[in-house]
Amino acid sequence: MATGVESTAENLSKLNINADFANSAPNLKKNLHLFSPDQIELAKMLLEMGQSHLFEHWPEPGVDDEEKKAFLAQVAKLNSSYPAALVSYIRNARELLADSKAGKNPYDGFKPSVPTGEVLTFGDDNFIKFEETGIKEAQNAAFGLVAGGLGERLGYNGIKVALPAETTTGTCFLQHYIECILALQEASYRLTKGEHQKEIPFVIMTSDDTHARTTNLLESNSYFGMKPTQVKLLKQEKVACLDDNDARLAMDPHNKYRIQTKPHGHGDVHSLLYSSGILNEWRDAGVRWVLFFQDTNGLLFKAIPAALGVSATKQYHVNSLAVQRKAKEAIGGITKLTHADGRSMVINVEYNQLDPLLRASGFPDGDVNCETGYSPFPGNINQLILELGSYIEELGKTGGAIKEFVNPKYKDASKTSFKSSTRLECMMQDYPKTLPPSARVGFTVMDAWIAYAPVKNNPEEAAKVPKGNPYHSATSGEFAIYRANSLILRKAGVKVGDPVQQVFNGQDVEVWPRITWKPKWGLTFAEIKSKVSGASAISQKSTMVIQGRNIFLEDLSLDGSLVVNSVDDAEVKVGGSVQNKGWVLENVDYKDASIPEELRIRGFRINKIQQLEKIYNEPGKFTLKP
Ligand code: UTP
Repeated sequence: MATGVESTAENLSKLNINADFANSAPNLKKNLHLFSPDQIELAKMLLEMGQSHLFEHWPEPGVDDEEKKAFLAQVAKLNSSYPAALVSYIRNARELLADSKAGKNPYDGFKPSVPTGEVLTFGDDNFIKFEETGIKEAQNAAFGLVAGGLGERLGYNGIKVALPAETTTGTCFLQHYIECILALQEASYRLTKGEHQKEIPFVIMTSDDTHARTTNLLESNSYFGMKPTQVKLLKQEKVACLDDNDARLAMDPHNKYRIQTKPHGHGDVHSLLYSSGILNEWRDAGVRWVLFFQDTNGLLFKAIPAALGVSATKQYHVNSLAVQRKAKEAIGGITKLTHADGRSMVINVEYNQLDPLLRASGFPDGDVNCETGYSPFPGNINQLILELGSYIEELGKTGGAIKEFVNPKYKDASKTSFKSSTRLECMMQDYPKTLPPSARVGFTVMDAWIAYAPVKNNPEEAAKVPKGNPYHSATSGEFAIYRANSLILRKAGVKVGDPVQQVFNGQDVEVWPRITWKPKWGLTFAEIKSKVSGASAISQKSTMVIQGRNIFLEDLSLDGSLVVNSVDDAEVKVGGSVQNKGWVLENVDYKDASIPEELRIRGFRINKIQQLEKIYNEPGKFTLKP
């Protein structure tokens, strides 16, 4: 019978482990018989990559053996979930950490210029034309929501997609997104008079921090009306933390048999889509466009039809949605970078890098507003539309790996040690960095009021935002929805009362009438306009909730609250004068723990005093006239 020592020697020779390596980790050597050949290979790789410290504290065989096995199981997982394995993670980390220590500018040698793109004005003929094209194309689209983020800045205890986008109806972000995708699907089918309605696939990237709660939210709400088979969840894995410039992997402070891990960033969505095989399935099913978006932007789908129309018309391989951006505003700018050696790319450049880059490249004033009153470098909002064919081709070359970065917080100017462990990160919008110059990379700019109102900041941080800059809080995200809906109805011919200024959670916001509608009521401006006629008016104190598809406003005068709900086959004309005490906004203290967190973080709740509510459950034609 082989003794433990003999079998270790056998293992070593079978696996060609150099004795020097083995001797560098004597505690591992003693325990080798616990592991499978694959696990031993991984241990060997760690030694070769200068990670022997991970085994230094290992006790004699017989002590904590299960933990030692669990350690190598974790290494196997870290190895398989990184596009080119852990070896390349450690190599990339060393390279990036050396660049960071040397203070190397990633854009050295690149000259910035303004890329080409489409600047749209909401509701004009051009916009309407792009929207129509976008709706036609929507049946060839697939959506990818990145929802694996921790949301540390917001500090909400639940997952962000479960938060109400607005509290008039309480619809959460995930429900809103699903209803928008279903409405797009139906609208595309109606417009193209296709043989059958194509299902628009929807992928959600989750992480260990969000996966179970996202699944639960979907399952406990019957997927908000979407077929369960239409939705796929892909879970991103975390990456190993790094302790120093040699990229020594950090041990978990709570468990000496684990490597500490942290999120790798939303760029993981590309490698996950690639490795899951989903992209090929989509291609075979006729999908042409993949639209990526983020967890808390209640406005986004108002911009999607036109932006997709731009992608289809211009045949863009990459179309970044962007908003008008004041020079030096704290939001990344979409920029064309051209290198002396011929390389060029159109990418997001963070605002703190853009101004110095311009100054160093012959623009002495840096980032300044042009004749439009805005910076010529539009503000990136991280919503991307990729053309599937070229996307698959590119990922075939890169394996889905996205250029990473590292952001260590150094202890002192010598830059030799970190305040706490760091890790490599990657961002979804850096996808174009590896594209060839022939790639058609453009952007679509819209006014921010129609396209971008994310919920990222907690009330305290939001209240500190310098005046004139967006709060990006639950408060501002909700009022942005009312503002956009009010402005759209105004443009469609409804007389909508002027907003009043009010302060909630220390944030000064414009309060417009609380107007909401289901996406199937109106996805495009043309559709909304077709549902409004005569001389309708809605006062500032009003609330209007439209919950059905075929509801038409005709000479409606609303001063109070009105809720109309109807089945799809009912056609309801809503007119006359509706007057009641309505729904009133009441300030709440965000520190008052007796109030639900969803409300506290907005600083108000809605007191539903009086409303006119009508429900039409049967098909037919109806008139609502009080
Ligand atoms: P955010 O910038 O909002 O980051 O991410 P975050 O991690 O959610 O929040 P903070 O920074 O901790 O406050 C933008 C989008 O990318 C997703 C988020 O869920 C959000 O939709 N994301 C972020 C991921 O899917 N994975 C990540 O690793 C990071």
